Amino acid sequence: MSQKTFGDYGGQYVPEALMPALTELEDAYQRYVLENEDGFVDEFEERLRDFGGRPTPLQRADNLSERYGFDVYLKREDLVHGGAHKLNNALGQALLAKYMGKERVIAETGAGQHGTATAMACASLDLDCEIYMGRTDINRQRPNVYRMRIHGADVNPVDIGSGTLKEATNEAMRDWSRTVEDTHYVIGSVVGPHPFPTMVRDFQSVISEEAREQFRAQVGRLPEAVIACAGGGSNTMGAFHHFVDDEDVDLYAVEAGGSGLGVDNEESYAPNSASLGTGTEGVLHGARTKLLQTPEGQIVESHSVSAGLDYAGVGPELAYLVDEGRVTPVNVDDDAALNAFHRLATREGIIPALESSHALAYLEEYAEQRSAEHASGDAPRAGPVMVNVSGRGDKDLDTVIEESTERDIANAPDMEVYQ
Ligand SMILES: Cc1ncc(COP(=O)(O)O)c(C=O)c1O
Repeated sequence: MSQKTFGDYGGQYVPEALMPALTELEDAYQRYVLENEDGFVDEFEERLRDFGGRPTPLQRADNLSERYGFDVYLKREDLVHGGAHKLNNALGQALLAKYMGKERVIAETGAGQHGTATAMACASLDLDCEIYMGRTDINRQRPNVYRMRIHGADVNPVDIGSGTLKEATNEAMRDWSRTVEDTHYVIGSVVGPHPFPTMVRDFQSVISEEAREQFRAQVGRLPEAVIACAGGGSNTMGAFHHFVDDEDVDLYAVEAGGSGLGVDNEESYAPNSASLGTGTEGVLHGARTKLLQTPEGQIVESHSVSAGLDYAGVGPELAYLVDEGRVTPVNVDDDAALNAFHRLATREGIIPALESSHALAYLEEYAEQRSAEHASGDAPRAGPVMVNVSGRGDKDLDTVIEESTERDIANAPDMEVYQ
């Protein structure tokens, strides 16, 4: 059986009513995913290829490479069907639900990307699908709500609290504890109680499995660094997993620095989502991990210009890899992410998701460090760098245009033509 904890992190901190569901899921994960019972893995790989559009390219970004003076490679998860890495996991779990004989699938969603991916997977597998989504998120992510409905999913609004991802997850878990007989809960990141963090990582690890082979075949060596954004951390763990044992490959998890670091304990608010780098240990959604919380243990409201990174927790395995010194947590603020969004769009012809723009933004700081090493005579790093472009940014256009105008973002084009 796979591990239940990562050092002090992970575990199964859930009400008794959920334990039968988790035990059943652990068993199914072991048999179908790890042991390929009934050819589950073969069917999953076939569907990822034909429905999902895998493998995704590893593309040299010529103009960024010229800007920074080293080779930048983009892992193009934005080209997965649906426009983000989220389908890798949603398809895996929906298929698992089918193998388990479940007829109904539920999921939580924040930005709507995971909800959309789950709705798409359920439509293709003929499964009933219900998505829990906070009222605030429903109002700010309308196009994704329409996409879920168009794929035949019911969207259940959650009016509790701030009406965002945390509350939607609570409601999905509550539903699952009542309906476990016929329902599977497709969690959207490497978070939640065991076996979700390990299982979601395994479904997403196709990213680094492909990238490792592509680097060997296309570049003739492994990258010196892999850079990925971290919300819950599923694209991060997916992009890192097959490189974790390669000691010469540095791994950077880029969090949302928002509009400033730290937690305002009185307001119970953090103007960022940097739980991995700045959070403290606690329990959220069934796992022990790093959280943005008050000293009394109240989870605070987080912030990021990118809805998909706006989460006060992070996957337990990532928290462990940071403590072990294997992953370096860094962050970039909202403005840097917006600038990186425009930089990729104008220089490479690719519109990245605002989430992925955080990973791209970190290249600026990385390049500065590299040239400082060079100037000081330290052996400079000399290899290629991979950035995981976790999704495409069409969903973010309204936000980007509004925020870029308000903040006077240097790289943004003039939109006066529309005024
Ligand atoms: C494109 C994209 N990238 C990244 C994320 C963050 O999730 P995770 O950290 O689990 O990869 C999201 C979440 O919605 C997303 O849509």
